[in-house]
Amino acid sequence: MFEIATKLHDESRQGEAFTQDIPNDRNYKRHFYIESYGCSMNFSDSEIVASILFNEGFSATRHLHEADLILVNTCSIREKAEQTVRKRLTEFRKLKHQKPSLLIGVLGCMAERLKSKFLEEEKLVDLVVGPDAYRSLPGLIVDADDGQKGINVLLSREETYADISPVRLNSNGITAFVSIMRGCNNMCSFCVVPFTRGRERSRDPESIIKECSDLFNAGYREVTLLGQNVDSYYYNQAAATAPSVPQGGKVHTQPSLSGNTLIDNDTPKSGESALDNPPPEADRGAGFITFAMLLEMVAQISPQLRIRFSTSHPKDITDEVLFTMAKYNNICKYIHLPLQSGSNRILQLMNRSYTREWYISKVDRIREIMPGCGISADIIAGFCTETEEDHQETLRVMEYSKYDMSYMFFYSERPGTLAHRRYKDDIPEVTKKRRLQEIVDLQNKLSQQSNKEDLGKIFTVLIEGDSKKSNKDWMGRTSQNKVIVFPKGAHLFVPGSYVDVKVNHCTQATLLGEIV
Ligand code: 5AD
Ligand code: SF4
Repeated sequence: MFEIATKLHDESRQGEAFTQDIPNDRNYKRHFYIESYGCSMNFSDSEIVASILFNEGFSATRHLHEADLILVNTCSIREKAEQTVRKRLTEFRKLKHQKPSLLIGVLGCMAERLKSKFLEEEKLVDLVVGPDAYRSLPGLIVDADDGQKGINVLLSREETYADISPVRLNSNGITAFVSIMRGCNNMCSFCVVPFTRGRERSRDPESIIKECSDLFNAGYREVTLLGQNVDSYYYNQAAATAPSVPQGGKVHTQPSLSGNTLIDNDTPKSGESALDNPPPEADRGAGFITFAMLLEMVAQISPQLRIRFSTSHPKDITDEVLFTMAKYNNICKYIHLPLQSGSNRILQLMNRSYTREWYISKVDRIREIMPGCGISADIIAGFCTETEEDHQETLRVMEYSKYDMSYMFFYSERPGTLAHRRYKDDIPEVTKKRRLQEIVDLQNKLSQQSNKEDLGKIFTVLIEGDSKKSNKDWMGRTSQNKVIVFPKGAHLFVPGSYVDVKVNHCTQATLLGEIV
């Protein structure tokens, strides 16, 4: 098992379909079934798709045989993710045979990457819809009902689905994802996301606050603000109403592509210890909302609402964000800070725009401002030209950063990316896997150490539900995002309650405790 479960790429949720049907208080024409793969953004998008279909008179079902429309929300980040979807599609062939009116749609990043090729390669697919085109689903379904193949893979510079109220799928009623921005301007050389999800754009803060407040009023107690690069959230409210700016009026410090080289004015220079790059004073109070400001606004909804966010980019996370996190008890003390590699040479080839020194100084700064803050990372083993020494440097940064957990992958070349065009995927698979295993082994050791350090400590835990193993135990999370399991005992707590729990034991992955 070489791909480790991640919050952004949670293996335990891959392929998850509905576990709850939308209440049947309307006359539904037809049923749809949706499966999601990949990152949290995809799971969040599926909730937008559900909302769009719900308004079109579709009801959700978790039973494939009941479906009139099967949708697969796909991921392209690694080859394996695409293979999983291809295999799953073949399993729908029989169903389509039995029910010729059944429509099958492919959504998300694979749809965007492969476009009409998908319709040629997978004859049973009727709909191919990219991440920015979900509003066109109803029209495409009508076309597909008429026997035409429906495709819309147009990327947008404006679409944030801000006005669409997601229908919560597979919800525990306590924790929810809220999308705050879409797309990515970073152009990491290994990554297909800028091609499949397009340019960065930030969602109107008012609609974000409304969604979070509505969730809180509905009993939810934790929101995770989602974006490919949340720290570059930037919304120009003044421009949003000015006629000269396109709909939504999003203004970013836009990196530009010159040749294939990213020029980004915010990029840290090697050796520079710029730890604080808030927006210029002039921007503040002038209708510009930064990520730090947005965090503060969400934190103020209620001290009872926990806030998480994902994902941060080490080059963009500012002191302002860290101080805002420190200021509010309800902003969870946990940062996912992808490393990718600990070697400066590889980081440069990856176009990550920071050095190992810059990364390490961020880790130091996080710990200085928030002692005890949880930190996790994404790490890629075996990127093009990676030597044993480069690999050792990655292990050394891991040791230094003492990650509580990591999401670890071996490099998978993606067609069309900068790395595919520029570099040879020259590390043999057996070497990639061996290095990955060394990374996994080290992370296991670090996770175990991190959990052991929590023994005897008391944490405030948000109860999410029954533990997987027993309905006599609760499962919840600490602010640092560690899973903790503890006996319910005679206490009258419910999911959504906050409770102080003392850690008595731990495994590598879980804390075990008791209510105090
Ligand atoms: N190969 C392996 N891992 C990748 N990731 C992104 N693209 C690739 C790729 N081509 C990983 C990165 C990223 C995470 C979401 O997936 O670590 O942070
Ligand atoms: Fe991909 Fe880099 Fe953007 Fe993350 S920041 S989505 S790794 S291009």
